[in-house]
Amino acid sequence: MRRSPSAPQPSLPFATADRGLLVHADALDACARLPAELRFDLVYLDPPYGLGTTMAARVEAGQGRGRRRAASGPAAFDDPSPEELVRMLAPRLAAIRDRMSAGATLWLHLDHRAVHEAKVEVDRIFGRGAFLGEVIWTPGNGGRRASGLAVTHQTLLVYARAPAERADVVWNADDPELREPYAATSLSMHFKQRDDQGRAYREREIAGRTYRYYADEGRRLGSVWTDLPAMVANTPLRREATGYPTQKPESLLDRIVRASSRPGATVADLMCGSGTTLVAAARLGRRFVGGDQSPLAIETTRTRLVGEGIAFDELGGPADQRIIVS
Ligand SMILES: C[S@@+](CC[C@H](N)C(=O)[O-])C[C@H]1O[C@@H](n2cnc3c(N)ncnc32)[C@H](O)[C@@H]1O
Repeated sequence: MRRSPSAPQPSLPFATADRGLLVHADALDACARLPAELRFDLVYLDPPYGLGTTMAARVEAGQGRGRRRAASGPAAFDDPSPEELVRMLAPRLAAIRDRMSAGATLWLHLDHRAVHEAKVEVDRIFGRGAFLGEVIWTPGNGGRRASGLAVTHQTLLVYARAPAERADVVWNADDPELREPYAATSLSMHFKQRDDQGRAYREREIAGRTYRYYADEGRRLGSVWTDLPAMVANTPLRREATGYPTQKPESLLDRIVRASSRPGATVADLMCGSGTTLVAAARLGRRFVGGDQSPLAIETTRTRLVGEGIAFDELGGPADQRIIVS
């Protein structure tokens, strides 16, 4: 690893192909400091949720992760009130939108605390017609409330860059990761025909055209995702665990990257926490621009990327040094 004093940085090797970029900065500064020609083809943003507390990481065995308590590890980031969160997000989302390419999508991941206020704000910034829909994700952790309505899902809002571009967004519907098996009743009732190879299919006539559906290809995935458990729900996922609070499973980001980008695309996550999006993007042959303002997030992401053998450059940080990892 070699360090060199950085400011100002006129250009980055990132502009050439297969390296990622990790920026230690507030998302607003990150957008301002990136090379002018750099565009995001897919943005995933997983900000704090509006909890009004400090979130802590587990860096040693026995420490608590999540809302800071007496037995917690070090502070990872402050999670403000829903009102403060939406106020913080607005200018950052506008800056991110200005960096998006035509056909790009934004995936904004929130939960019930702030998602409704945030949606009104994103509608204002991107245009209401740019809203493509939402995904309900169930992490499978169970409800955290002792009484009353148990909230067991989170919400991802999906936007095109502008209303006029909603028909142009990338959506790889045929990727196997975006298909799910037909229900057993549907298979037995409808898929009664066989082709020359013995594959079961059904045909449907829609608006005068005949469409053939194969049973083994499954159907298009819907907008409620229940099959991607969160970190704490399933022990095999411990392999991924970094101890960073609210870390998302790689399977979730893998699906989003597959759905909304093509190989070679640039995937951005400017509140990347432990770097889950960056790992998923790199594995799928996309370039990434990651960022976070938390020193612990950057340290965690750096360790994770190096451990995965993923090449990247760094920009920013208190000493404003550029670190080239080779
Ligand atoms: C919910 S966590 C992200 C978790 C991440 N998706 C993962 O899988 O590890 C939210 C992150 O947003 C970062 N953050 C909050 N406000 C920010 C800002 N204005 N600019 C950059 N990062 C910010 C926090 O430091 C924190 O790491």
